[in-house]
Amino acid sequence: MPDLRPLALVTGASGGIGGAVARALAPGYDVLLGGRDAAALQDLATDLPGARPWPVDLTDTTALAEAAAGIMRLDVLVHSAGVGLFGTVAETPAGTWRQQFDVNVVAVAELTRLLLPALRTAGGHVVLINSGAGLSALPGFASYSASKFALRAFADALREEETGTGVRVTSVHPGRTATDMQRGVAARFGEDFQPERYLRPESVAGAVLLAVTAPPDAALTDLVLRPTAS
Ligand SMILES: NC(=O)c1ccc[n+]([C@@H]2O[C@H](COP(=O)([O-])OP(=O)(O)OC[C@H]3O[C@@H](n4cnc5c(N)ncnc54)[C@H](OP(=O)(O)O)[C@@H]3O)[C@@H](O)[C@H]2O)c1
Repeated sequence: MPDLRPLALVTGASGGIGGAVARALAPGYDVLLGGRDAAALQDLATDLPGARPWPVDLTDTTALAEAAAGIMRLDVLVHSAGVGLFGTVAETPAGTWRQQFDVNVVAVAELTRLLLPALRTAGGHVVLINSGAGLSALPGFASYSASKFALRAFADALREEETGTGVRVTSVHPGRTATDMQRGVAARFGEDFQPERYLRPESVAGAVLLAVTAPPDAALTDLVLRPTAS
């Protein structure tokens, strides 16, 4: 009996937004849960029928290729893994720029490249969790925003390149979302962490679900979410 459920891979599933995306997809997809903490991913998988851990450091190119090698058909690839390293241009050294781009851009490009044959086979969907910072840049956000602007350029080029292959590409641009990353942003800029004023990760996951369940004649290319409270 062939497995009829479609397959999704969510990077950053151990994080706030990626975890919510994995939970939102789980009723309709077998979900590969990306992250580095295998035990945490196993805990998450226990709650989600059809889900299984996919532990790999996305910046380890060799390990990434090994992890992707067995995936022959992929319906949805959600890139939610990311790092937020903040500081003014004056206080941001080269190593921080490299780290930020390594996870937020280079790893995304490499994983997409490795999985494109599987995505084409399925007529699949690539969703990139970008940011409001990928649309405009604020003081203290130079390296983070630059990585997200680059991620948007990557998505736009990929969409054009894959026209006609059946692969669709969506950039999702959330504003502040109540996760550990946002807790770090608040601490970095001396603000209170106020989750009630931010987007819920489940709301971002809802946008991802909207994109991947759009009818085949339609591509939702860019979705921008802002918290209503701020
Ligand atoms: N929170 C916000 O306000 C907000 C707003 C707009 C956009 N975003 C974007 O949304 C995405 C998810 O953010 P979040 O708020 O959910 O952050 P989060 O809770 O801090 O989660 C980050 C995720 O990225 C994974 N990750 C980081 N580096 C990795 C690496 N080298 N290899 C594998 N996985 C790695 C982490 O895995 P480990 O468990 O292994 O560390 C974790 O699962 C990011 O791209 C972020 O830029 C966030």
